[in-house]
Amino acid sequence: MQHDLISDRARALGLRTLKRAAGAVTRLVPITPPVLLVGPGSALRLGQAVAGFGHRRVLLVTDAVITQLGLAAPLAEALAAAGVQVVVFDGVTPDAPIPVVEQGLALFVAEKCEAIVAFGGGSVMDAAKVIGLAAANGKHPRELVGYFKGRHGPAPLYAVPTTAGTGSEVTVAAIISDPDAGQKMMVADSRLVPEMAALDPTLMTGLPPAITAATGMDALTHAVEAFISLWATPYTDRMALAAARMIWQQLPRAWQDGSDLDAREQMALASTYAGLAFTRANVGNVHAIAHQLGGRYHTPHGLANAIMLASVLRFSLPDAAPRLARLARHVGLAGKTELALAKKFVDAVQALNDALEIPRTLAALREEDLEALAAAACHEADFNYPVPRRMTPADCTALLRLVLSPTAQPAKAPAKRRAQRRPAASSKAVKASRSTK
Ligand SMILES: NC(=O)c1ccc[n+]([C@@H]2O[C@H](COP(=O)([O-])OP(=O)(O)OC[C@H]3O[C@@H](n4cnc5c(N)ncnc54)[C@H](O)[C@@H]3O)[C@@H](O)[C@H]2O)c1
Ligand SMILES: [Fe+2]
Repeated sequence: MQHDLISDRARALGLRTLKRAAGAVTRLVPITPPVLLVGPGSALRLGQAVAGFGHRRVLLVTDAVITQLGLAAPLAEALAAAGVQVVVFDGVTPDAPIPVVEQGLALFVAEKCEAIVAFGGGSVMDAAKVIGLAAANGKHPRELVGYFKGRHGPAPLYAVPTTAGTGSEVTVAAIISDPDAGQKMMVADSRLVPEMAALDPTLMTGLPPAITAATGMDALTHAVEAFISLWATPYTDRMALAAARMIWQQLPRAWQDGSDLDAREQMALASTYAGLAFTRANVGNVHAIAHQLGGRYHTPHGLANAIMLASVLRFSLPDAAPRLARLARHVGLAGKTELALAKKFVDAVQALNDALEIPRTLAALREEDLEALAAAACHEADFNYPVPRRMTPADCTALLRLVLSPTAQPAKAPAKRRAQRRPAASSKAVKASRSTK
């Protein structure tokens, strides 16, 4: 085993150097951000714009909830009114499972579509990205997993996010899932960035509070992981800091009153800024763990990140305190030393979770799965993410153990450890009543 040959410390140092070098290289890859339309009605304006781009047949990729809510109807009508044939695929389900992507791909090919409008959350946008890339290259989605696996760029893609979380509307990545293997996989290619995106807050007013909270914490995780990344640049720092402050201020508002258009628009922008930050600087250990929880238990992506964020940041403190202190100052926290400030930030992240009624434990997590989940998370982090502090499988198992629900723990667990796993609520945040559920 590698561990017998090379010590963890030596591996960590080697990986750190390699990752810094990879960061210097990836900095040179050109990424063209999409044209952004922002504000109420911008989804309709995107439809009108796309109608002017000369596509004859467009695949509208969405999901059944969006169809039921009728959210995409004005955009589809604008396209149809301009003579563009709209083929609707509304079969996307959470985490873009491969069989679903295959269905969308078959429709795109059979209907000879020329472009794609993705209208939905991250699952819809990611399914659409892979449909377009697979169609352009005549490849199965599975063959595209990894970096730059397509020879040709995808069909033109336009995106309308309906959650404020993933930032997929500006990123080079698409996450798809293999339900049989219980795994999530990444397709990455700088040509996957949509050509145009609309951030329309009116589409988000019906998001239930639990989805608002989880997707908003996904965006915060992107901002924080990008900010503490070894690949951070002055540009990604600006985006990450702005996103973190906006989420800090606006997520509780959007959660309390879903119809607050200003809060919704600020969250949509913040999620896009966080996407711009992490598509360059990358994510980290929180995502490495969240992807395993999503693959194995179908835990919603944002929820998995939210549950892990504070404890992974606490683990990262020895190597990330100065950066976490900067984040703390930026969101308005005060403290005497850098370490004190950094710790305050971590505590405040947990308090934000508590205020948003995000659980501290994951009911689906099983004790017997911990080692395999930790091994897979460390593998993902080691090969992809420029983290400030590397996790060993033992570190990761310990972090996962913190979020085991009491009912999932072995009967013989000592009382003291049980108490540590489920700390008393430290949040002093006031839970205001919500007018929109
Ligand atoms: N490509 C990237 O850069 C990137 C980044 C982060 C996450 N992801 C991936 O994105 C996926 C998660 O996306 P997500 O968090 O946006 O969730 P999602 O797209 O899976 O949607 C979650 C739920 O919200 C519903 N929904 C969406 N918009 C709604 C609206 N406006 N009103 C009411 N209900 C609505 C959906 O129907 C679904 O049931 C995961 O697979 C994750 O790994 C991708
Ligand atoms: Fe994410």
